[in-house]
Amino acid sequence: KRPAGAPDPRLARPVTKVGVVGAGLMASQLALLFARQLKVPVVMTDIDQARVDKGVGYVHAEVDKLAAKGRISHDAANRTKGLVSGSVSKDEFADADFVIEAVFEELSVKKQVLAEVEAVVKPECILATNTSSLSVTAMAADLAHAERVIGFHFFNPVAVMPLVEIVRVPQTDEAVLATAFVLAKGLKKTGVLVKDAAAFVVNRVLLRLMGEVTAAFDEGTPADVADTALAPMGLPMTPFTLASMVGLPVAQHVAESLRAAFGDRFHVSANQQALIDSGITGLWAPTADGAHEVPATTQALLH
Ligand code: 3HC
Repeated sequence: KRPAGAPDPRLARPVTKVGVVGAGLMASQLALLFARQLKVPVVMTDIDQARVDKGVGYVHAEVDKLAAKGRISHDAANRTKGLVSGSVSKDEFADADFVIEAVFEELSVKKQVLAEVEAVVKPECILATNTSSLSVTAMAADLAHAERVIGFHFFNPVAVMPLVEIVRVPQTDEAVLATAFVLAKGLKKTGVLVKDAAAFVVNRVLLRLMGEVTAAFDEGTPADVADTALAPMGLPMTPFTLASMVGLPVAQHVAESLRAAFGDRFHVSANQQALIDSGITGLWAPTADGAHEVPATTQALLH
């Protein structure tokens, strides 16, 4: 059955090479997913060689972990690694069919990056954004060909989260939308068409939850206590663990975007901002038994 809002899949364009702008955590996870599931060359770009190398290194390390766990064969691991390359030049996107950006969550940065990509790609290349909270319509506004723009929003950790939010802008071509749905399926994700509204659907729900938890934190409940209190509620991951995985600055940024769009339904935590200002990007990582370890460096700053 065709997903709601998905055009006829026969309209979809072939995707034989993918470009990823950015080589950070999200971008690297995307590069891995595209190479592993679509088995097509994927090129990642970033602003300097060190970032590019880190991104490619992440993909190689994750592929090695999959092979060590016996999830993929060593041949498949080598093939996947061979498909992923990195460059500081967007010229590598010249023959790509689909380029997705996963750079810093700031409209001006994303607009600039998309304009740079548009200048080098072929006319039928699709330009996708992994934005989690910004207007895709605004991002497409100054491009020469807004009809090839699509929002394609994944969730952390990309390898296991099953959803991708697909966002069309008024100009988006049916073939582009069809390609997005076909790609989502090829990536073994469920694509859902959502309205181009701040933070789409999933992050609105998540950030309402996070807002209440960080408000409790701001009122004096320590972050680790707030997390522990919510553990029995059946959440797959407790709120501060999730925020640590996504990165506190990203979580804060999404909260700010939602606050700007919807007012005081969304809480922006002063304490979380203080942690970020002290250079803390995550409080703790989940451990195998579902507990968390609070490093001494963060412990002192939690209360
Ligand atoms: N990378 C790759 N694989 C991972 C992973 C990661 N970071 N974390 C877990 N996995 C894999 C494990 O390897 C395991 O695979 P296996 O079965 O082959 O061994 C599988 O996922 C299940 O992992 P676990 O059994 O260790 O742990 P859980 O059962 O707790 O599941 C989880 C892990 C699926 C990540 C679960 O904790 C979860 O759903 N957490 C919530 C995540 C969430 O809400 N994400 C949305 C964040 S918001 C966002 O990303 C939007 C952004 O734009 C801001």
